[in-house]
Amino acid sequence: MRIVLVGPPGAGKGTQATRLAEKLRIPHISTGDLFRANISRQTELGKLAKSYMDAGNLVPDEVTIAMAKDRMEQPDAEGGFLLDGFPRNVSQAEALDELLTTEGIKLDAVLDLEAPEDEVVKRIAGRRICRKDSAHVFHATYSPPKQDGVCDVCGGELYQRDDDSEETVRTRLEVYHTQTEPIIGYYRAQGLVVTISAMGAVDEVTGRALEALKSGQ
Ligand code: AP5
Ligand code: MG
Repeated sequence: MRIVLVGPPGAGKGTQATRLAEKLRIPHISTGDLFRANISRQTELGKLAKSYMDAGNLVPDEVTIAMAKDRMEQPDAEGGFLLDGFPRNVSQAEALDELLTTEGIKLDAVLDLEAPEDEVVKRIAGRRICRKDSAHVFHATYSPPKQDGVCDVCGGELYQRDDDSEETVRTRLEVYHTQTEPIIGYYRAQGLVVTISAMGAVDEVTGRALEALKSGQ
């Protein structure tokens, strides 16, 4: 399957993507995680991305599209993928369509996670991620690690993302409404959008997502 995951910051895209990718046996491709890996390796791309991310703005399309394309062309993504955080505006969605058309493949679904603003703000405020792999995500109250400050998966140090400050979250939400939400309309016109509520326990949301993907609604 080829799936795009969309939803406001803090809705649980990364949390759900990890679970769905495992169940569906497809790689989880998160442009946010790819940028964070570049930041920790201190690459040129990481240095460029950090300035935009810390301000809550989108990293320029040109570098983002090139990075996503490169990752989607890796052998493990041949049979399908779950995109988390890409595309994030209409021009990225158009670039993805172009890429898929060239390869003669199509998206199967766009899974839209809905969550009210007060909930996503609470989820972001308590989020702790792993320094070794930012796909390992915890929450101080909702899904605490077994040992304070230590990743259950790999033993890495847990920390709060630099862009999870109150002020940056406000900008990220605004960017989501103005730049990312329009892709839902873009994909709705292609009959690909499946909307589910992201409220409730993590496992409950995963079950809802799998059900919705199966029935296509
Ligand atoms: P990115 O890393 O994609 O961040 P985001 O979209 O803002 O989304 P988040 O990762 O904050 O939230 P999430 O939905 O993944 O929630 P999570 O599962 O962690 O992007 C960061 C930045 O990179 C962007 O601002 C931009 O600068 C740049 N960027 C990335 N892609 C780009 C692109 N394509 N173009 C340009 N720039 C790009 O969950 C949140 C918390 O809630 C966690 O603590 C979790 O444990 C908890 N939680 C999850 N589910 C539940 C539940 N059901 N109940 C209770 N708690 C829950
Ligand atoms: Mg995420």
